[in-house]
Amino acid sequence: MFIAKFAATVSALLGVCSGLYSSKKCRNDKLRCPKDQISCSTTDLNTCCTPDVGLYTYSVGWYPKTGPADSFTIHGLWPDYCNGTWPPNYGCDTSRHLSTVEDDIKAVNPELHKYMVNYWPSSNGDAEEFWLHEWNKHGTCVSTAESRCNRYNPVNGTEAIRYYEQTVEYFKIFDVYNALKKHNIVPTANNTNSGYQVKYKVSDIKAAIKEEIGAEVAISCKNNIFYEVLFYFNVKNGFEPVYIKPLINDTCTELVYINKY
Ligand SMILES: *[C@@H]1O[C@H](CO)[C@@H](O)[C@H](O)[C@H]1NC(C)=O
Ligand SMILES: *[C@@H]1O[C@H](CO)[C@@H](O)[C@H](O)[C@H]1NC(C)=O
Ligand SMILES: *[C@@H]1O[C@H](CO)[C@@H](O)[C@H](O)[C@H]1NC(C)=O
Ligand SMILES: *[C@@H]1O[C@H](CO)[C@@H](O)[C@H](O)[C@H]1NC(C)=O
Repeated sequence: MFIAKFAATVSALLGVCSGLYSSKKCRNDKLRCPKDQISCSTTDLNTCCTPDVGLYTYSVGWYPKTGPADSFTIHGLWPDYCNGTWPPNYGCDTSRHLSTVEDDIKAVNPELHKYMVNYWPSSNGDAEEFWLHEWNKHGTCVSTAESRCNRYNPVNGTEAIRYYEQTVEYFKIFDVYNALKKHNIVPTANNTNSGYQVKYKVSDIKAAIKEEIGAEVAISCKNNIFYEVLFYFNVKNGFEPVYIKPLINDTCTELVYINKY
């Protein structure tokens, strides 16, 4: 099922002709990108087609009192260098940092905005601040999102929206809540003090995600409470994930998965 979902997203997000900016002209103009070129497999790249900071980490979180009761929420899409090290904390291009973005998202893509409000909330503050932080620190490293890669609407600033669109489309694929639910791994009431809290094996959680989504993930816990799931991948055809082994270890072997509310 995720393949079908995926084909639609891939065509919507390929570097140049994103849904956002597409016109008839755009749809008829085929991207001349090398088919199936995997990021980090070569340094000889058209970086509008294949990202040069080409090793992505993607994190979804299970945060108390944050977002829908039956969904993980987005933390972010984080490009790393191909050697596994991270770009600096100020990102890859301070000249493209933004200090506001929510009004632009609303104006350009109200549906995206609605989705972000639901599935990309901040667990401890203002959502726009959180989105700006993700763009400034990580989004500026995603070469395929850059304005110069869009021949039809190279407006500076709207490139952040392309980064958010990509991030949201990955989230639709990384549907961890339902992957786990299919394997009867569901959140339970918080009885951590009574000693009766249901515990799940991290190996079972990983096996369920592997089976349903296809990725080997790393699981992050805080005090043995489920916290985040991390996906690691290169990309091909602009967007498609090519999963790799996680670069970090799980932080627990058994965890409690507690209702958010
Ligand atoms: C990793 O790659 C980046 C970008 O090419 C480079 O700046 C950095 O020095 C490399 N780090 C290591 C440890 O090789
Ligand atoms: C976009 O930003 C780049 C880099 O700062 C600049 O060279 C270019 O002129 C800008 N383009 C527009 C349309 O503002
Ligand atoms: C679970 O309950 C304990 C005790 O009331 C509380 O300290 C803790 O924050 C709760 N955890 C969650 C994730 O709700
Ligand atoms: C993960 O665990 C292995 C085995 O304990 C250890 O050798 C490795 O250094 C750890 N990796 C990281 C990134 O912490």
